[in-house]
Amino acid sequence: MTHSHEQTVDAVPQPIVDAARAASRIVVLTGAGMSAESGIATFRDARTGLWQDFDPKDLASPEGWLADSDLVWGWYRWRAALVRRSEPNAGHRAVAQWQQHAQVDIATQNVDDLHERAGSTVLAHVHGSLFEPYCSECGVRAELDDTDILDDGILIDADQRVPPPDCPRCGGLIRPGAVWFGESLPEQAWEAAENAVRAADLVLVVGTSGVVYPFAGLPAVARSAGATVVEINPVETEVSDMADHRWRTTAAVGLPLLVAQL
Ligand code: APR
Repeated sequence: MTHSHEQTVDAVPQPIVDAARAASRIVVLTGAGMSAESGIATFRDARTGLWQDFDPKDLASPEGWLADSDLVWGWYRWRAALVRRSEPNAGHRAVAQWQQHAQVDIATQNVDDLHERAGSTVLAHVHGSLFEPYCSECGVRAELDDTDILDDGILIDADQRVPPPDCPRCGGLIRPGAVWFGESLPEQAWEAAENAVRAADLVLVVGTSGVVYPFAGLPAVARSAGATVVEINPVETEVSDMADHRWRTTAAVGLPLLVAQL
């Protein structure tokens, strides 16, 4: 039996409070909606979604990179610049606070560092990170100074072509640290996320449309392992039917209300 709870004025549905209080191992699975209230565009929300303006296969794929690495590098630095100009929201801060007094693991699809900047430790960035570029040839992590994205004067445009830097070790092109469509997920991050979900009593699924696998399969893994699954999302998603409870609220509204009850 699953229940949908519409967001009522600052009330957390009691079954969600009860599950959170009873849980000793919690996993928070987050997607782009977690950062929406920080002003970071999601991918698939109508009108505002990044994929409305850009075609994922051109910008988030090995083919796109090979076709125009300057365009791809520029787009990812633009996204990094936007993150640098944004702040963690109350939802990020609530999860960080929760981690202070409970076993809360975060596995995120997000390539921003807003969970970390809110004070959280993140168990797994399963789609990589905007801030961990590496050499496309030898794989060495690139240590970039962020002057290209921090200087207020030069917020580059989303479609500005910027040549990627050369690897200091082998001369190859430094590439964005995000996982592209068609690429495999970082092994260690994926295993950590899957193991955490299998061992959890409670799994919160926050701000994801649940359309990109294998991450979208984690709520089903949680449920089959006996965890209570709670979705926090203003709308129905592809993973809603995997949730025992669906709380139609946002990350920055719902998470602080929930954590305040614990
Ligand atoms: N609070 C909670 N959820 C929200 C909020 C909010 N303030 N605003 C939007 N959402 C929800 C939307 O309803 C939607 O279900 O967040 C979800 C965002 O979905 P997507 O844009 O598809 O983002 P995500 O699910 O993270 O995408 C998965 O796709 O493009 C790839 O690799 C990229 O990691 C990304 C993956």
